[in-house]
Amino acid sequence: MEKHVKHRILVTGGAGYVGSRLVPRLLESGHQVAVLDLYLYGEAPLAAVRGNPRLKEVKGDLRDPAAVQSAMAGCDTVIHLACISNDPSFELDPGLGKSINRDCFPGLVRAALKAGVKRFIYASSSSVYGVKETPNVREESVCEPLTDYSRFKLDCERILMEEAGTSGMTCAIVRPATVCGYAPRQRLDLTVNILTIHALVNRRIRIFGGKQLRPNLHIDDMVRAYECFLDAPAEAVHGVPYNVGYQNRSVEDIGLIVRQTLGDEAIELKYEPTDDIRSYHINSDRVRDRLGFVPRHTIEDAVQGIAEAYRVGLLKEPMTNPLYYNIKRMQEVKLK
Ligand SMILES: NC(=O)c1ccc[n+]([C@@H]2O[C@H](COP(=O)([O-])OP(=O)(O)OC[C@H]3O[C@@H](n4cnc5c(N)ncnc54)[C@H](O)[C@@H]3O)[C@@H](O)[C@H]2O)c1
Repeated sequence: MEKHVKHRILVTGGAGYVGSRLVPRLLESGHQVAVLDLYLYGEAPLAAVRGNPRLKEVKGDLRDPAAVQSAMAGCDTVIHLACISNDPSFELDPGLGKSINRDCFPGLVRAALKAGVKRFIYASSSSVYGVKETPNVREESVCEPLTDYSRFKLDCERILMEEAGTSGMTCAIVRPATVCGYAPRQRLDLTVNILTIHALVNRRIRIFGGKQLRPNLHIDDMVRAYECFLDAPAEAVHGVPYNVGYQNRSVEDIGLIVRQTLGDEAIELKYEPTDDIRSYHINSDRVRDRLGFVPRHTIEDAVQGIAEAYRVGLLKEPMTNPLYYNIKRMQEVKLK
């Protein structure tokens, strides 16, 4: 999509996995970007753009109104990514998770209204649906979140509309699939990424169960989707949840794709039993039909991206480095 308008955008969590690809892209497109982040995964993820005169970085906590106010000053758009971003790290300290993922959210929305923000883009999750047997999990499917992480994602969608639905601020709700691929802040605790790194390092992929479906989205398409929500007509996005995913594949198929993409038949697929047969899959026709957003990058692309990064030494001690694993890092930083 052509970029007509230059925005002043606050990206909360801009130094995280998605943010570390999104922020450079927004700067490249000519936008002004403010990042509010605790930099739980270090400062290196934004090193390539540090010093860009259109980038402002605020190292601070989402729960601190002064930090929020300082980061948000002068912004017309918010892309809210910051959170404790998976079930295991959330469950490590549910009180902490709730304080970040839910309790401070009304204050964040009010701060945006006060600052005169015109558009608030909220990163929800496709996990809000829970497990569904139906083949097409569309946005009108009943949401039955199974964990607090997912429940609070759904709560925040509602809170956003309660606080700002009639204010004139455009509220966009994005429900992404599981993201995959390489980023300067790498996550290796997401399905495609996990299987890829195991194949590269151990030449063995452990498949627990295997028939469970997972919805996937390449990180470049995640970034393109946020760009699309920046410029989409207000009436098309306001208060309307959008699934954003591409390929729904079984865990076993993802393992096979990884092996084939790496071109190494000696990579062993080791099947192991599991009690966790949760199967997730989403339908993303709405974002294509209403906003014209079509993903371009495949699971194979994601595998290749990670393999390339590994081969050139961008992933340091990938099996053990806490920076790649949210739960390990949260155990280490002991955030309160
Ligand atoms: N990655 C995925 O597969 C995926 C899928 C669906 C939805 N999402 C959502 O997208 C968003 C981004 O995900 P991600 O994978 O980039 O997560 P991430 O964990 O890599 O990044 C989260 C960032 O938020 C920051 N942060 C955490 N608590 C904070 C606080 N109290 N104050 C300020 N900063 C804080 C962290 O330092 C980190 O940089 C999240 O909201 C996540 O729930 C991600």
